[in-house]
Amino acid sequence: MAMRRIGSWEILISRRPLSTTDLASRYGAVSDSWERKARCFQLNAAYQKPFVTSQIATLLAQFGPKARVLDCGIGSLSIALRSILEDQVEFHGIDTCADMIAQASSIMQHAGLSPYLRQADVQSLPYDDQSFDLVMAAHVLEHLSDPRRALKEMIRVLKPGGMVFVCLTRPSIFGALVQFRWRTWAITEQQGVAWLQDCQLADIGYQPVHLASCAGVASTAFWARRPKCHPQMKGLL
Ligand SMILES: C[S@@+](CC[C@H](N)C(=O)[O-])C[C@H]1O[C@@H](n2cnc3c(N)ncnc32)[C@H](O)[C@@H]1O
Repeated sequence: MAMRRIGSWEILISRRPLSTTDLASRYGAVSDSWERKARCFQLNAAYQKPFVTSQIATLLAQFGPKARVLDCGIGSLSIALRSILEDQVEFHGIDTCADMIAQASSIMQHAGLSPYLRQADVQSLPYDDQSFDLVMAAHVLEHLSDPRRALKEMIRVLKPGGMVFVCLTRPSIFGALVQFRWRTWAITEQQGVAWLQDCQLADIGYQPVHLASCAGVASTAFWARRPKCHPQMKGLL
């Protein structure tokens, strides 16, 4: 939000995010070229690095082949995760855009994954409380009018001891272009960490994400663990 004071006047200019329907239709229009974009920015390699730093593979290994992973705004993140895991896990994914789900389904099958996919909104997930060991989202929350609401919803479906992992566009020249095109937020490291702290998560970490094709350090990966005894269980979230 930008604010200017002129004499006794205060002028506020704030971003109006796209509605869920408009966003789904815009992503529908680019879904055919999404795989090409993912290759161009080398998303697979970019996401693998913070996955390794966050030691997500070690966490999932504790849960064995029955480990359940939910990818919100499905796609490249699941493929990157699969490429660093030794063991199978159960992949689930949601997206509001049917065409993006169809794309993700075909790319993931090609990568040897058989995900359970549903058309749904990250702000209102169609899953029971505490159903997943890892809940993640890449470049989804910054599209929303209230990203923290979606984050809390992701934590609701996270098991105690499980991990939340989100990649968010950060302030940069590339971030400004994305912001202009998609009306997204650009989120600083401090803001992302504060959101995770507000949700009373533990072991918070973050790492810049380097994208290829001159996009540079255009986003940040954040991760945190849901403590075994978490306020959500007492209805505080
Ligand atoms: C930038 S793309 C990222 C796709 C994927 N995470 C990847 O990296 O390949 C954002 C995705 O989030 C989806 N999306 C946007 N708003 C959403 C919402 N409220 N709930 C679920 N998915 C949403 C879009 O349809 C799109 O597929």
